[in-house]
Amino acid sequence: MREKLELIKNAALEQLEKAVSIAELDGIRVKFLGKKGELTQILRGMGKLSKEERPVVGKLANEVRQYLEKAIGDASEEIKSKEKQDRLQKEVIDISMPGRKQTVGKRHPLDLTLEQMKNIFISMGFSIEEGPEVELDYYNFEALNIPKDHPARGEQDTFYINDNVVLRTQTSPIQIRTMENQKPPIKMISPGKVYRSDDLDATHSPIFYQMEGLVVDKGITFADLKGTLETFVKKMFGDKMETKFRPHHFPFTEPSAEMDATCFVCGGKGCKVCKNSGWIEILGCGMVHPQVLRNCGIDPEVYSGFAFGFGLDRMVMLKYGIDDIRLLYESDMKFLNQF
Ligand code: DAH
Repeated sequence: MREKLELIKNAALEQLEKAVSIAELDGIRVKFLGKKGELTQILRGMGKLSKEERPVVGKLANEVRQYLEKAIGDASEEIKSKEKQDRLQKEVIDISMPGRKQTVGKRHPLDLTLEQMKNIFISMGFSIEEGPEVELDYYNFEALNIPKDHPARGEQDTFYINDNVVLRTQTSPIQIRTMENQKPPIKMISPGKVYRSDDLDATHSPIFYQMEGLVVDKGITFADLKGTLETFVKKMFGDKMETKFRPHHFPFTEPSAEMDATCFVCGGKGCKVCKNSGWIEILGCGMVHPQVLRNCGIDPEVYSGFAFGFGLDRMVMLKYGIDDIRLLYESDMKFLNQF
């Protein structure tokens, strides 16, 4: 018996040594310690032993069982830790490799400036209106007193979809759309993209941005126009800014003017940006032409209004000292990351 137990123990240990997986260990456990296992068989056969032998063999068998249980437990721990080690080896990350950079987007300078301008006008009670970029010839030209063959069309040559549909050359058609849809008092601005068939160079782009403004109510005068735009310029560029109005011509305003502001680069002393004049041209403006009001069903005997239009790109270029309009449309991150 004693020898048989030794044999079982050694056989089990030998097999344990070779085992490389938990499944194999389970097999060994069943084979030696299971219900029908070899050690169990011995314990079952103890009835045949003499009274003296029984406790001795019983004790020994239990020792062997405990010994094997511990050995199997140890082997299982060992295999598990080796498996873990293997996994760690396999999943190792080479931290010396450069990672993939996440590029973070930025606000575009046009958008930054536009937001600043919008906030100023919103604070003065203006609403924001929108209009389509693909526009009817009627809204873009006719209703603004620019009939077919009018020379003003020459300056605003555009992309024609067909005889009646164009890519809008200005944001002024939104004036007409707003006056058709709303009753005075009207106080709105409308920023947006406009198109002209200009060749691309440092100062021209076939796409650029404008911002329109329109106020219509009873008793609106040129003084309201001046006060509003002066307030805007001071809020946008600082209290020291001055404005001046030069007579001009636009078919849809009468009288019309262009507004200049103190050069914000040199403060009016004269520099390269303002061509030594101390002034920078900011926008076109005027009192809404009575015929334009009539075109929209508004009685010019009762109501009057003023309007203005900015070129946004020019404002951005002056503000940041950008000398080429193409930079605003090239999406070059090296350029955009500066803002
Ligand atoms: N739409 C004009 C342009 O593109 C700018 C302009 C001038 C708009 C006078 C106005 C205005 O509303 O009153 O040149």
